[in-house]
Amino acid sequence: MDKVAIIGAGHVGATAAHIIAQRELADVVLIDIAGGIAKGKSIDKMQAMAIQGSRVTVTGTDDFSAVSGSAIVVVTAGFARGPGMSRTDLLKKNAEVIRSVVAQINAYAPDAIIIIVTNPLDDMTMLAYGVSGKDRSKIFGMGGVLDTGRFVYFISQKTGAEPAAIEAMVIGAHGDKMIPLVELAKVAGEPLNDKLSREELVELADRTRRGGAEIISHLKTGSAYYGPGTAVAKMVEAILQDTKEVLPAAIYLTGEYGINGAVIGVPAVFGRNGMEGVKEIALTADELAGLQEAADDVRTAVEALHGQDA
Ligand code: LAC
Repeated sequence: MDKVAIIGAGHVGATAAHIIAQRELADVVLIDIAGGIAKGKSIDKMQAMAIQGSRVTVTGTDDFSAVSGSAIVVVTAGFARGPGMSRTDLLKKNAEVIRSVVAQINAYAPDAIIIIVTNPLDDMTMLAYGVSGKDRSKIFGMGGVLDTGRFVYFISQKTGAEPAAIEAMVIGAHGDKMIPLVELAKVAGEPLNDKLSREELVELADRTRRGGAEIISHLKTGSAYYGPGTAVAKMVEAILQDTKEVLPAAIYLTGEYGINGAVIGVPAVFGRNGMEGVKEIALTADELAGLQEAADDVRTAVEALHGQDA
């Protein structure tokens, strides 16, 4: 059985762990500086697995050396944006977390594939990529699968079609500059364009962009975790089961889409070797410009972080 380590036993990490274990994708170790939380949640999960009859093991600890032997390490650790905290404050605080976590993964599980989930997602993935020294095929971020799930859900609500009948994808930033690919979306093989008005399409794209914020506005404290946890499990499944699925993810680009040396969300093939190839799909001129602008933002933010180290 493969082993997956999840760093951070908060709602997103714990939900991802639960789905991975429930589906018997891997043995799971939950690691958190709050060791009691990781331990308590892991015992709770093992009891759930006993009820369900799932044969994987889930353990919880504050001991980072438990990542050793993991095929995949999922990083959810970090602060959430609190009251009065700017995006830059969050960036700085979580950059410290990411630097230390990635250094420890390198020490204990140097061959592991790393999936970054900590926000701001694209910036943290680019920072982690730099710190890790890994090939880009082994380190990338989860954002696009979640945003795509939200887009599919909204299309389904609007058209009445089953999510399984909907082909759609969201690329770009996991943030304000995400790009729901409206022109490419299909329902039962037919362009979404033919079914909805321009206004309806714009509304769907806007609601997708605000998908995370909409949930926060209802929860008041905290943000989404069932969607994020399920999206992590989907990426883990694609990798461990070598499905070669095309999924959008935050990836370090080396010339694709005219972007060189920045992380941004694009579609790629996922399998046992991790990110097995970026897919260059045809975009409209606006979409391409939007993608390049979002990548520039990420590069600028991460360069500013490095500047502060000096
Ligand atoms: C989301 C944030 C929290 O739910 O990343 O999209």
